[in-house]
Amino acid sequence: MPAVQEPISRDYGAVRLPDSPGEREGFLQDHGESFEVAVTSGKVGVGPDLMRALPNLRAVINFGVGYDTTDVAQAFERGITVSNTPDVLNDCVADTAMALYLDVLRGVSTADRFVRRGDWLSKGNFPLATKASGKRVGILGLGRIGRVIARRLEGFDCEISYHSRNAVEGVGYRYANSPRELAAGCDVLIVAAAGGPGSAKLVDAGVIDALGPDGYLINIARGSVVDEDALVAALLAGRLAGAGLDVFAEEPKVPEDLLALENVVLLPHLGSGTHETRAAMAELTLANLHSFVTAGTVLTGVQA
Ligand code: 8YV
Repeated sequence: MPAVQEPISRDYGAVRLPDSPGEREGFLQDHGESFEVAVTSGKVGVGPDLMRALPNLRAVINFGVGYDTTDVAQAFERGITVSNTPDVLNDCVADTAMALYLDVLRGVSTADRFVRRGDWLSKGNFPLATKASGKRVGILGLGRIGRVIARRLEGFDCEISYHSRNAVEGVGYRYANSPRELAAGCDVLIVAAAGGPGSAKLVDAGVIDALGPDGYLINIARGSVVDEDALVAALLAGRLAGAGLDVFAEEPKVPEDLLALENVVLLPHLGSGTHETRAAMAELTLANLHSFVTAGTVLTGVQA
C-alpha cells in the first residue's frame, strides 16, 4: 500500500523484497543479514523460510489484524516482536459480514443479476428468499470482530450464540461447547475466528452437516478455518442452504464449482477494504514501526 510503502522508504530507507523467487533468494543471500525489521501484510507475511533468511530480524510489523502467514512460533522462539493492526478494522469487517448475511439470505446479488439479464421482464417475479431478521445466529470466534458482528445482529433481532476457545465473560450470548454444538443450534453460522494452525478446518464436514440443509455459512475470517472441499461438496449436494465467503483456502483461487451456484456470494477478501479503514491500518502500522525503532516496543503487539 503506497500509504505505508512511501513513508517507510523515505523515513527508514526500507527496501522492497523482490517478488520473483529466484531474485529473492539471491537478494536474501547477499543482504538478509542487514535487516532488523520487516514490514509486511497479512496476505504476505514472514513465513518460516523468509524468517530464517533474516538472521538479525528483531520485529515483524504486520499490516492487518491476521498474522497467520507469519511464523509466530519461530518469532517468539527467537525473541522477535510481532505487531498487527487490531480494532481499527472491526467496523468494516463486521459490515462485510452483515453485507454477506443479508445478501445470501435475501438473494441480493442473485436478484441484481436477474434484473440485469432482463429476467424481470421475461420471467416475472423473483423467487421468494429467506427472512434475515430474527434468525438464530452462531458466531465462531467471539473476539474483537465477532463482538461487533454480534452487536450488528442485535439490531436485526437475532438470537446470538457463540463458540470461542473460552467462554467470554460479561456477554449475554449463549455459549456452545464446540463448533458442532454451535452449528446444530443456529440457522446461520458466521466464522470470525483467527486463522492459523490452531483453527485449521475447525468448520469440518461434521459442523457443516450439523448446520444442515436449511443452514447458511458466512466466512469473513480465513479460508483455512473451513474445510473448503467439505463446504463445496455440501453446497453442490444441497446439504447447505447457502454461503457467503470473503475468504478462501488458496486466495485468489476460488473453487470452480462455486462459480455457478446462485446461493453463494463470493467476495475477493475485501473485509477491511475501505479508504477509511485502510488509512487507519496504515497509520497504526507506521505507529508500530516508529515505536519499535525509537523505543524498542510496539503499540499493538501479538502475544505469545
Ligand atoms: C487485509 C485482513 O486485507 O487484517 C486482516 O487480517 O485479512 C485484511 O484486513 C489484509 O491483512 C491485508 O493484507
